[in-house]
Amino acid sequence: MKILVLGGTRFVGRHIVEECLRRGDDVTVLYRGRSPSPFAGIARHVLTDRRAPTVEAAAVLAEPWDAVIDTSARDVDDLSPVLPLLGDVGQYTLLSTCGVYRRAPSRYGLTERAATIPADASHPVRASATRKLRCERYVRRRLDRINGPLLIARLGLVIGRYDDSDRLAYWLERALRGGDVLVPMDDRQAIQLIDATDVAHFLRDAVDHKLTGVVNVAGARTDARTLVDTVLTRAGRAVTPCRVGEDFALTHRLQPWTEIPLWLPASSPELALMSVNISRATDAGLILRPLPDSITDALGWQALRRGWSQRWLDHARERDLIQRWRG
Ligand SMILES: NC(=O)c1ccc[n+]([C@@H]2O[C@H](COP(=O)([O-])OP(=O)(O)OC[C@H]3O[C@@H](n4cnc5c(N)ncnc54)[C@H](OP(=O)(O)O)[C@@H]3O)[C@@H](O)[C@H]2O)c1
Repeated sequence: MKILVLGGTRFVGRHIVEECLRRGDDVTVLYRGRSPSPFAGIARHVLTDRRAPTVEAAAVLAEPWDAVIDTSARDVDDLSPVLPLLGDVGQYTLLSTCGVYRRAPSRYGLTERAATIPADASHPVRASATRKLRCERYVRRRLDRINGPLLIARLGLVIGRYDDSDRLAYWLERALRGGDVLVPMDDRQAIQLIDATDVAHFLRDAVDHKLTGVVNVAGARTDARTLVDTVLTRAGRAVTPCRVGEDFALTHRLQPWTEIPLWLPASSPELALMSVNISRATDAGLILRPLPDSITDALGWQALRRGWSQRWLDHARERDLIQRWRG
């Protein structure tokens, strides 16, 4: 397959490129060059800002492609200069997010038919999802320009090697440091994480199967107790989880999600996004790795990069809070 990846050098895109190369595809990555490419010598590189493609990049975009996988469209401004330049495309895959759904809990989880947030919402936390939704609508309206089938892959929270977000990294880092670990989450808090390698396998298979439409690509639903225990045990350090409970944590003004990532209090509307229905993807062949395997992999990656974000719970404060909790 001759595949163009718009992006592809950081995290999810990097896994997609690795998967395509593993299958023997002829891969081109188009990116700005801000992140170093790990694919020097094994993929064709086109350096350009997609918001203002160079003449050379325009010529590459116009080539016939078995598939274009777009990991880097974050706003319509990323799409409007690119789509008119494309020639024959076997399949266009736009990576979107489950963040586009309205935060309305549903018994069967959010399906692809669930209501979406208003496309003009100005909620700061949802601004990036709003922009993604506008991207989805823009691509749909310009299907004639793409001349091929369109897949919109709405991704849930992704974890794995190369993940440079602050989310699972907090727990990996905390487990690697060892000692008493403050855990504010309710044991039953919903958690849904997907390994980037599973995303990559699925999206590459989707090219073969010419899957079209909208598909949720998210992990298996689990709970906070399972996740935290898996991370703490797999790290292999001496750790004691201190399950202080949500009320204690909120009373002491701990900030869910930012200060302690992946913690969503029972009242948080964002919990709806931890219950995404993935039946369409599994019917289409999505296979999920067991969580412990993903955690082991992620721990290996985190052990190499180590670091503590300024936003996360300060170590001294964590110790102090645990002492208070123990009374
Ligand atoms: N991680 C998650 O949990 C999650 C959840 C839901 C959805 N998603 C979606 O998954 C997708 C993958 O994100 P990723 O960062 O992991 O992908 P990635 O493809 O590994 O990295 C982003 C790539 O986009 C390129 N890029 C960004 N802006 C560009 C521009 N204006 N022109 C040309 N290239 C540009 C970057 O190049 P430079 O280095 O040169 O900037 C980089 O190669 C995103 O669409 C994201 O919204 C992720």
